[in-house]
Amino acid sequence: MPLTNLKALVTSGPTYEPIDPVRFIGNHSSGKQGHAIAAALAKAGADVTLISGPVTLPDPAGVKTLHVETAQDMLAACESALPTDIAICAAAVGDWRVKTLADHKLKKRENTDELTLTFIQNPDILKTLSNHKNRPKLIVGFASETNDLIDNAQAKLQHKGCDWILANDVSAGKTFGADENHVYLITQSETQEWPRARKSEIAQTLVQNIIKEFK
Ligand code: CTP
Repeated sequence: MPLTNLKALVTSGPTYEPIDPVRFIGNHSSGKQGHAIAAALAKAGADVTLISGPVTLPDPAGVKTLHVETAQDMLAACESALPTDIAICAAAVGDWRVKTLADHKLKKRENTDELTLTFIQNPDILKTLSNHKNRPKLIVGFASETNDLIDNAQAKLQHKGCDWILANDVSAGKTFGADENHVYLITQSETQEWPRARKSEIAQTLVQNIIKEFK
């Protein structure tokens, strides 16, 4: 099989950032695209570790799946999977977590109808892997944008230091939770528009490109 002897890690799904013991901030990521990529890499012979936030999907066959909730836990699980040859960051990682996690359920208060929470930034997993001393040889990120898709994705490629970006439009109703995706592959030298296709087909196209890269 074309990717035999290669190790890959894939992040997928949302993260949940807790506020108190019963509440969290999450997002609408379903994990469909990341899980499909993990499955396609495994089918091509790679030794795959999937690091998944909370999703309703089953663990893909033939893939070692680690379940995490927060961005910090997702980063720690990624680092534990290193060294790998390939890293695909498909997770919709929460950019922020509350600065002070309440150890009891936050109660409504009589004298105010407002609640103020202070957030601090989470680690950027894609950027951390791209600058890691055990950097995977090929690192692919996603760019989820609601506007200026290509420009924002090209800027993300430079800023994050990864090798390729799959850019997708996540404006209302598109991509998150859907079975299809419409992406552009952006590398340092080119931008390719891929036809709209099922997420499983997008995963296969990505894996074909990865196979070419490792030949
Ligand atoms: N990503 C990550 N860790 C984070 C945030 C994002 O690994 N803390 C990764 C995502 O998995 C994706 C890429 O970075 O591969 C871009 O994610 P995106 O949500 O499009 O961008 P952000 O980095 O969050 O930037 P912004 O919200 O400003 O667009």
